[in-house]
Amino acid sequence: MGLHEEIARRRTFAIISHPDAGKTTLTEKFLLFGGAIQTAGAVKSNKIKKSATSDFMDIERQRGISVATSVMSFEYQDHIINLLDTPGHKDFAEDTYRTLTAVDSVILVVDCVKGVEEQTEKLMKVCRMRNTPVIVFINKMDRDGKDPFDLLDEIEEKLSIKVHPLSWPIGMGSLFKGVYNIHKKYLNLFRASTQRVEEEVLSIKDLTDAELDKQIGEYDANNLRENVELIEGVYHDLEKSKYLSGEIAPVFFGSAINNFGIKELLESFLEISPIPKGRPTDKGFIEPDAKDFSGFIFKIHANLDPKHRDRIAFLRVCSGKFERNKFFYQVRTDKNARFSSPFSFLASSKNIIDEAYPGDVVGLYDTGNFKIGDTITEGKKYNFQGIPSFSPELFRELINTDPMKTKQLEKGIEQLTDEGVAQLFTHQLGNKKVVGVVGDLQFEVIQYRLLHEYKASAQFQPVPFHKACWITSDNKEKMNEFCRVKYQYIYTDKDKNTVFLAESAWILKVAKENFPEIIFHTTSEFKTQNNDA
Ligand code: G4P
Repeated sequence: MGLHEEIARRRTFAIISHPDAGKTTLTEKFLLFGGAIQTAGAVKSNKIKKSATSDFMDIERQRGISVATSVMSFEYQDHIINLLDTPGHKDFAEDTYRTLTAVDSVILVVDCVKGVEEQTEKLMKVCRMRNTPVIVFINKMDRDGKDPFDLLDEIEEKLSIKVHPLSWPIGMGSLFKGVYNIHKKYLNLFRASTQRVEEEVLSIKDLTDAELDKQIGEYDANNLRENVELIEGVYHDLEKSKYLSGEIAPVFFGSAINNFGIKELLESFLEISPIPKGRPTDKGFIEPDAKDFSGFIFKIHANLDPKHRDRIAFLRVCSGKFERNKFFYQVRTDKNARFSSPFSFLASSKNIIDEAYPGDVVGLYDTGNFKIGDTITEGKKYNFQGIPSFSPELFRELINTDPMKTKQLEKGIEQLTDEGVAQLFTHQLGNKKVVGVVGDLQFEVIQYRLLHEYKASAQFQPVPFHKACWITSDNKEKMNEFCRVKYQYIYTDKDKNTVFLAESAWILKVAKENFPEIIFHTTSEFKTQNNDA
C-alpha cells in the first residue's frame, strides 16, 4: 500500500466531554465494535475517581493504566482508527489540551440531562483555536433529559458552533423509541442492551410511509414528521466543508450504555471525518503526503517503576513514513537518533512496529531526551507549532524542605515539567520558583513524585497569583520599564520567555491600560495564535 492509501485509511481523533457524560462508555463501545476488547468494563478501570479525594493509589493506578490506554488503535472496515484518550479528571485538563493538538477531529459527548457543562466549554475553546472538526453525540437518551431543540440551541449558544442534526430522537427516557437518520433516511429502533448487537434499522425513505406509524405509533410518527420538516427547513444538506473547517458540528443522538446509535456514529464518523492533516511549522506548512518523515512529541509519560527513570514519549506522525532503526533528527537538540523499539497501541497492547504513517501515534522509550513539543524530522530544521502551554489556573511557590537534596529537587521539577505535569515559572532573580497547574490534584502528584522518584522533599506555599501572561512588545524601552516596575511579578518559563504573573483580573486590566504597548498572551505560543488575554 502506498503512502496515500495509508493516509486515506487512517482517522485520528479524541472523545471529549464533561466528566460523567459518557466518554468512557462510548470509548468502550467503539473498542468493542473494533474488536479491540472483548468485554465491557476493560476501559472503565482506567478511570480515576472523580471526587477531590482521589488518593495516591488512584494516581499511581491511573498513570500505570493510562500508558496502555492513552492511545487505542483498532481496525474497522479497513480503516485504522487511532483514538486518543483524554483524562476525565479536570485537574489534568492541560494534558487534554495538548492531546487535542495531536488529533484531526473530535467527538464531543453531551449528556442530554445536563446539557453543556463547564468542562465542555473549556475543551471546545481549545478545539476552536485550531478549527478542529467536531461531531456531537448527545448521550443518555434513555433518560428524561432536555428537549432536543433546546439542547441544540444551548450547544450553539454556549459553544459558539453551528449544529446540524443528522439524526433525530423519537421520544426520550422511558418513552425513547429510537432515532430517525435524516441524512440516510432510516429508522433505528431502540432496544436496551449492553452487549454488542447489530442495530435494527429500517429504511424509510418517505416519512409519509404508513410503516412509520406501524413501527412507532401514530403519535410519535406525526411528531417525527413535524420535527424533521422543521429541521430540513432550517438546516438543508450538511456542508461537509464547513464541518471540516470546524464551523458546523453534525449531531447524533443515542445511548452509549445501551450500545444504541454507536454504530451509526462510528460509520458516519468514518464517512465524513478528516484523514490525517498536515501541520503548520515555523518554516511553512507540512503536508501529510510529503515524502520525508516528520512528527512531534505531544505527551510524555513517566514509567511506573520509580527505580528506572525512563519515560514514554508519544510521537504523532505528521508526514512521510516513520521507520524503526532509521536515523531521525531531533530539531531542538540538533542530534540524530534512531529508535530500536518504537511501539504502537494496536489492540491496547504494546507492539513493536517497523513503520508508521501520518495520523499514527508511536510510543518511544525516552531517557530524558524529549520535551513536549519537540519536532523530529528526516534532517530538516523546522518546528511544529500549535503545542502551546496554557495559562495555569492555580499557582504555588515551591519550597525546598531538604537543602541536602537541592540538586534532586531541581532535576525532579525540571523533568516533571518537561512531562507537562505542571508549568514552572522562575523569578527573574532566580531564587523563587512558582509552579502553575490546572487542578489542585497536580500539586499532590508533584509532591509525591518528587519524593518517591527523586528523593526530594518539597512543600507548596500559596501565592496570590491569578493568571500567567506571556508578554511581548515591539517597544523594547516600554518592555524594560514594565519589567522594572513589575519586577516582583516578572518570571521566565522553561524556555526563558518572559511571563507576567498577575495577582488579579483587575491588576491585569490596569497593567494593560497603563502599558498599551505590551501584549499579554494567555498561551505560550503567541507567535502564531491570536490568543491575547
Ligand atoms: P465519563 O467517562 O464521561 O466520565 O462517563 P462514563 O462513561 O463513566 O459514564 C458516566 C456514567 O453515566 C456511568 O454511570 C455510565 O454507566 C452512565 N452512562 C453512560 N452512558 C449512558 C447512557 O446512555 N444512559 C445512561 N442512563 N447512563 C449512561 P456510573 O453510575 O457513574 O458508573 P457505572 O456504575 O455504570 O460504572
